[in-house]
Amino acid sequence: MVRIHVTGPIPPEIEAELAADFDLVDAPEGVDGLLTLLTTDVDAKLLDRAGPQLRVIANYAVGVNNIDLVEARRRGIVVANTPDVLTRTTAELAVGLMLALLRRIAEGDRLLRREDSWAFSLTFMLGESLDGKLVGIVGPGRIGRETARLVEAFGAQTTFAGRNDPLDPLLEVADVVSIHCSLTPKTRHLIDAAAFARMKPTAVLVNTARGPIVDERGLVHALQTGEIAGAALDVYEDEPQVSAELLELENVVLCPHLGSATRATRHAMGMLAVDALRTVLLADGLPRNVV
Ligand code: DGY
Repeated sequence: MVRIHVTGPIPPEIEAELAADFDLVDAPEGVDGLLTLLTTDVDAKLLDRAGPQLRVIANYAVGVNNIDLVEARRRGIVVANTPDVLTRTTAELAVGLMLALLRRIAEGDRLLRREDSWAFSLTFMLGESLDGKLVGIVGPGRIGRETARLVEAFGAQTTFAGRNDPLDPLLEVADVVSIHCSLTPKTRHLIDAAAFARMKPTAVLVNTARGPIVDERGLVHALQTGEIAGAALDVYEDEPQVSAELLELENVVLCPHLGSATRATRHAMGMLAVDALRTVLLADGLPRNVV
């Protein structure tokens, strides 16, 4: 039977799908396929351990920054990911974070849980609406474009930065800077001290893409000095660590990497990964989502 190694826990129904067609083994040595999580470093060392018969890596994520793609290509290994099925889900979380930050939802929740005294007042905890704001989408891919579509329904306008549109003009005008690009050597610390200096002091940063795109130390400094007004983060530079200073700041909303975390989306992602393994290993084909 064809051998597969899964590098971390996956939903039981996806594991059952795999078990129906493959021999699931506990270690990568001698396998034909790997199902990897975004927390697995798929480097030359892991590929050496797997051995030369390895034909396919199915990443249970759309982002593939955890995989050494050059090394995989050099060895003729097919890499597949899970796009599309998480586009709406991740965009939805980006908008949720924007609203939680701008309308001070998380901050209000913390206030009540601390049992601070409060009373309705016309000047109490005033926030900002998305309506009428300019949202700058950094990375106009599938998730970025979907986020734009959703915020436009809230009355926001959008502007984009990407390969063909420069970042600096966006940083200077956007009320919300929302990160949606992939993490590559080019985008590591794309949002650094110089970028924060360009942003408006009333602007906020939202990151649902990958932590290292933002210089987290620079972000802490920008928040502490009032260079920007707030941040809402789903991802961190050194995940699962979160800078201690961020935990102390009221103008920050934090989520534990939940971008694609709905039952339906995680199921759909898992089925795409299973499909990629089946296509390569049982049908000698190329999966739909080759990276
Ligand atoms: C991905 O698929 O890359 C997401 O980060 C998972 O939530």
